[in-house]
Amino acid sequence: MRSSTVFGALVAAAVQAAAAVTGAAEGFAKGVTGGGSSSAVYPTTTAQLVSYLGDSSARVIYLDRTFDFTGSEGTASETGCAPWGTGSACQLAINKDNWCNNYQASAPKVNVRYDKAGLLGITVRSNKSIIGVGNKGVIRGKGLRIVSGANNIIIQNIHITNLNPQYVWGGDAITLDGADMVWIDRVTTSLIGRQHVVLGNSASNRVTISNSKFDGTTSWSATCDGHHYWGLYFTGSNDLITFKNNYVYRTSGRSPKVAGNTLLHAVNNYFYDNSGHAFEIDAGGMVLAEGNVFQNVKESVSSTRGGQLFGSPNASANSACSSALGRACQVNGFGSSGALPGTDTGFLGNFRGKNIASASTYDVAKNVQNTAGFGKI
Ligand SMILES: *[C@@H]1O[C@H](CO)[C@@H](O)[C@H](O)[C@H]1NC(C)=O
Ligand SMILES: *[C@@H]1O[C@H](CO)[C@@H](O)[C@H](O)[C@H]1NC(C)=O
Repeated sequence: MRSSTVFGALVAAAVQAAAAVTGAAEGFAKGVTGGGSSSAVYPTTTAQLVSYLGDSSARVIYLDRTFDFTGSEGTASETGCAPWGTGSACQLAINKDNWCNNYQASAPKVNVRYDKAGLLGITVRSNKSIIGVGNKGVIRGKGLRIVSGANNIIIQNIHITNLNPQYVWGGDAITLDGADMVWIDRVTTSLIGRQHVVLGNSASNRVTISNSKFDGTTSWSATCDGHHYWGLYFTGSNDLITFKNNYVYRTSGRSPKVAGNTLLHAVNNYFYDNSGHAFEIDAGGMVLAEGNVFQNVKESVSSTRGGQLFGSPNASANSACSSALGRACQVNGFGSSGALPGTDTGFLGNFRGKNIASASTYDVAKNVQNTAGFGKI
């Protein structure tokens, strides 16, 4: 009797652990375990969610409802600026850290009224799995912030939305700045004020971002055209980022911006409806782009380029990947899009000995628009 009870408990624990996370991280953050097999918690209030994310226990945190932070810290009404004009389709800017006066001195001053909760994300500490249940895990009005050495974190199947989309500096959906081993998977971000994902200047080390949907649809854009400019910002000082099977939709810039000395493996993503540029590669950035689809992307890479890019141009050139990745690279596909001229191969050796994501053909990546984002598992 006794041993079968123990056995039953072990089976139950195994089932729970197996159900915790769908799949496993591929690429640089391979091996991330998050909260591992810790017992599940289901926060019911925003305060409880904040507490579980920010305490020092390993946790598997299920989100089975909307956590609405709008209004929770009050509203600010103050003077901001209009760097891109006062037209109704244009984003305005909050005067954060005196930004309007320091960088946009000639921009008209305007009144801005914003939700204070959006500005700073919820702190997420080490050893956490944050998992949405079905299509129910939604965080409104506040992002997630993984900083100051936090590591071993999985964020899966949630939607972060409504962070002061009218205003630049209104909030970032997911911030990493000084982290390691983070996996962002099947996440949707929409209606964000600033960046959808920002990896700041500190080292964020090994990161995998996969199967996620970055939705730039907005009525308030820095390019005043319904496309969000501030997409993905990767400028860490020692960052290895696998960016695979993501759907980057309706943006107009920084999708992504890559600098610091970030090594970015962008593989099998679907970039669609971009009125400006997808990649912006500044000094120090190193980008291997393969097997992606660019559809209606004005500039697949911005014309001013400081860093290095291998754009996987054709089968003979792509054999240059073999010595470092153990396989040839896949060509990218383009429909009504700008070219991706990048033939730098010197940095490919940095992939040697790392966990490297596999690559399918760009034909396979065309389906990413149907599979990426939250609510599909
Ligand atoms: C995270 O979990 C690992 C493995 O159990 C442990 O060594 C480490 O101290 C934990 N980190 C924190 C910050 O609690
Ligand atoms: C392949 O790409 C390289 C680099 O852009 C170029 O020099 C070469 O001519 C191309 N080869 C073919 C067969 O198109």
